[in-house]
Amino acid sequence: MEKFLLYFLVVCLLIQLVHSYEYLKETFNSKYLVIGVIGFLTLWYSYRLLIKPLDIQRKLADVGYKQYFTQKQWASKDKLHLIRSMMSLRKKGALPPVYPNGWFALLDSDQINIQQVKYVTAMGENFAVFRSSNGNINILDAYCPHLGANMAIGGVVRGNNLQCPFHGWKFDGTDGKCVNKIQQNDCPDDTILTKTSVKKWESFEANGFIFVWYHSENEKPSWYPPRDEMISNWTYRGRSEHYVNAHVQDIPENGADVAHLSVLHGDMALGGQYAAQANTSLWNILGNHKWKAEWKADKDQWHLSKLKLEHKLKVFKNFVIFQMNVTADQIGPGLVILNFKTSFGPMKLVQTVTPVEPLIQKVVHRVYCPIYLSLYASILLFMESVMFERDVVIWNHKKYIEKPLASKQESTLLAHRKWYKQFYSANSPTFSFRKETIDW
Ligand code: FES
Ligand SMILES: [Fe+2]
Repeated sequence: MEKFLLYFLVVCLLIQLVHSYEYLKETFNSKYLVIGVIGFLTLWYSYRLLIKPLDIQRKLADVGYKQYFTQKQWASKDKLHLIRSMMSLRKKGALPPVYPNGWFALLDSDQINIQQVKYVTAMGENFAVFRSSNGNINILDAYCPHLGANMAIGGVVRGNNLQCPFHGWKFDGTDGKCVNKIQQNDCPDDTILTKTSVKKWESFEANGFIFVWYHSENEKPSWYPPRDEMISNWTYRGRSEHYVNAHVQDIPENGADVAHLSVLHGDMALGGQYAAQANTSLWNILGNHKWKAEWKADKDQWHLSKLKLEHKLKVFKNFVIFQMNVTADQIGPGLVILNFKTSFGPMKLVQTVTPVEPLIQKVVHRVYCPIYLSLYASILLFMESVMFERDVVIWNHKKYIEKPLASKQESTLLAHRKWYKQFYSANSPTFSFRKETIDW
């Protein structure tokens, strides 16, 4: 939309210039025109860089697939079909269960307005997420128990209730109970209505996200995501959204995989998302990234773990021009808050991982900083996104090795697996179970 507006403005400007050329020639000297155009472009790009938060969106087909197909195949519209066929041939390995227990982000807070309902599918469930007129978030099962209409598609939010678009039954967002009073003559029996309810999902809104509590044993939440004060006080500087073809565990495990850092993330981010390309990029003449990492499970709170990262950007092999220390708090299976202390100041990055399907994860990063670091935070988000895509290329095609050939230095990887195991329980859905029931 924005691009369209810009093109429209440029075309209008050009038409105007052609039409008024003779007049302009008399009135202005062409020098002023050039200054005007440069001024306009400067203002536009300053707005994009300094004011408008960054918005990076990568669909499944955008990272790590193109090079495996011929140009003709890739040019065909059905990229998803090509990817699905590649997915079906891929060896998966003995995968852990596909949906761990915990809080998972369904939407960013700013993606849903007051009295709006949205349909979200994740963890094999179908959710109607809506914001009541008092601003609170409620999550109900999307399907109406009356005749199965999807209430998130065409349903209407009335106060604290969600009204089904098919026959108008209303459900209270706080407990899922049907709240209709008998008003129509053709309504069969008021006891049906008063006893009816739809599943109410526990929800929690914090740090720019709306979370749902998923538990395969139907247990109540035993912990909640923390509300980070700095995030609510600082400026929001943008988000990235990636769809990744991987098991949910692969993504947080990356933090404990200390050995991959210098190989995959050592080359300059400007070299791009493909490690091989980045490795031969001319940007490496300039410098490279050095990493040191340490991962530990929290001793007191079982659902927490911490990754400490030391990063240095060295130019001409020896000179450190930039340094940052990062503490990444992993909170349950699907949320990480990264706290950056950089040479220029602090900032925070919130990462959420949500299983959309057994092997498709939606990963969102949102960045926050003090206002004076706005430009820098946008650059950091962009760089982080490139580095993340280097991992995505690997995740999209890898097989799960249950017993990795880990050296002593890689013991944190095994410790992380042990820690993450606690999010699975007896009835956690497995990949083979899902395969038997649904044609993925
Ligand atoms: S299907 Fe929802 S009210 Fe009939
Ligand atoms: Fe990585």
